[in-house]
Amino acid sequence: MKHPNSNNRKTNRRRFLSYLVGLAGLLLVGLVSVPMAALSLFPAFKRRKETWLDIGPLADVVLGDPTAFTYRYNNRDGYLDQLIRGTVYVVAENLQSFTVFSNICTHAGCAVRWEPDKQVFYCPCHNGMYNINGQVAAGPPPRPLDRFPYKVVGGRILIKIKGA
Ligand code: FES
Repeated sequence: MKHPNSNNRKTNRRRFLSYLVGLAGLLLVGLVSVPMAALSLFPAFKRRKETWLDIGPLADVVLGDPTAFTYRYNNRDGYLDQLIRGTVYVVAENLQSFTVFSNICTHAGCAVRWEPDKQVFYCPCHNGMYNINGQVAAGPPPRPLDRFPYKVVGGRILIKIKGA
């Protein structure tokens, strides 16, 4: 003969187990979704490596004139391996302290080039212009040219980049 409380116990056990399963599910969802949400809301949390990239010898810098240096490196982002090429301009009055400018226009990302006749960095996309100090001189660029942190090691210029 069945005990009168046995059905009750079974129901209670079933209910308890379903609570446990529900709780485990919630925990799992939380474990996955919280970091994903943090990454999408705050991309700065994504770990992006910073690398010092050798762009060339200090001896190649022409004092008083922006000197173009080209670079290339492989950028690894997850499974993606991408060849990155770029150009920077070194503007130096002396070789102890100088500025390394990105050649990417701050308006819409076109490449600027130094125009010695006009003494400006010129962007052909929308006639943007920057003076030798990277400040906007004309056109639509909203801010000065970006600068790279740099250091000189063994007579070579290294710039700090994200990725690689
Ligand atoms: S992209 Fe350079 S001025 Fe528009």
